[in-house]
Amino acid sequence: MSKIAVIGGAGYIGSVVSHELRDMGHEVTIFDNFSTGHRRFVKDFDVFEGDIASTEDIHRFFSFYQPEALLHFAAKALVSEGEEKAVSYYRNNTLASMQLFLQAIESGCQRFIFSSTAAVYGIPKSTPIDEGVKLDPVNIYGKTKKSTEDFLFALAEKGLCQVISFRYFNAAGASSRYAVGEDHDPETHLIPNVCNAILQGKNLQIFGNDYQTQDGTCVRDFIHVDDLSRAHCLGLSYLLQDKDAKSQAINLGTTTGYSILEIVSQAKRLFGDFNFEYQDRRAGDPDNLVASNAKAKEILGWVPEHSLESILTSAMAWHKKTTSA
Ligand SMILES: NC(=O)c1ccc[n+]([C@@H]2O[C@H](COP(=O)([O-])OP(=O)(O)OC[C@H]3O[C@@H](n4cnc5c(N)ncnc54)[C@H](O)[C@@H]3O)[C@@H](O)[C@H]2O)c1
Repeated sequence: MSKIAVIGGAGYIGSVVSHELRDMGHEVTIFDNFSTGHRRFVKDFDVFEGDIASTEDIHRFFSFYQPEALLHFAAKALVSEGEEKAVSYYRNNTLASMQLFLQAIESGCQRFIFSSTAAVYGIPKSTPIDEGVKLDPVNIYGKTKKSTEDFLFALAEKGLCQVISFRYFNAAGASSRYAVGEDHDPETHLIPNVCNAILQGKNLQIFGNDYQTQDGTCVRDFIHVDDLSRAHCLGLSYLLQDKDAKSQAINLGTTTGYSILEIVSQAKRLFGDFNFEYQDRRAGDPDNLVASNAKAKEILGWVPEHSLESILTSAMAWHKKTTSA
């Protein structure tokens, strides 16, 4: 059992991981400012309310709590908002993250798991994308994550820390075990918006139908949040079991891409008909993002278990419960 700090642990992915780490026997403390997180996801956890942009908060956190490892989920993560608010995205996702990691190292915590993103790849020349592809993000969000990754790997190269940077593709679905699902405001992610369109009888908005894909809509690789969570647990064991464990950037995806229209048609098959309408493209959205996950399998023995159907049905069950609660 180890003492683990989960930064941004009240959010969608961080809270599922916090639950699973605790079930493994770890002592988990969450640090969150609740800007997009939910108190109901972490009701019975030890929570430190603070902001990573405040050096005082970070300092206070590490002075009373000495974790052996830190998982960092806290970020602003809306691609189009990032285009409008570049300063705030660099402040939160890069500058504040750097301060957090430096303070952790100075406090004796040197094992890190960082939430990176497929957006660091930019517009890939081919798919599936493996970790060796040159990073060339096309949006501010991806750029802020790449800067933080570069910083972490530079520190790791100097022997100051060990890092896994997980590059998630599209996290989706709900964790029925831990009663956590996607609840962002505004909600920009496709699958919760499909559920909301069906449950609230609204039109689903599809952004762009002139992409270079089979049907003109974007193609994405959707990965169930429970699969993501298991990868973090394996990643943490990898770092904790070997003090010489090599730092790694690892994709987390399924290797299968679905276009937005394919998701719509699967959702209609499962839940019945609903309407959608096309809007203009959103700034910074690449055509096609599908992961190779060979490295995650090789290094962590991780293979995703959930299908698209499981993602859709778990999300819908969670949204139904939340809407009627
Ligand atoms: N959801 C996805 O599909 C996806 C894909 C790729 C990468 N990611 C990355 O995964 C991470 C988690 O994503 P999520 O969907 O769970 O997001 P989320 O918004 O649900 O969770 C982020 C959490 O961090 C907290 N937070 C944000 N800024 C903070 C700050 N300055 N100080 C303290 N806490 C702060 C929020 O309150 C929230 O609890 C993010 O870093 C995101 O960039 C997510």
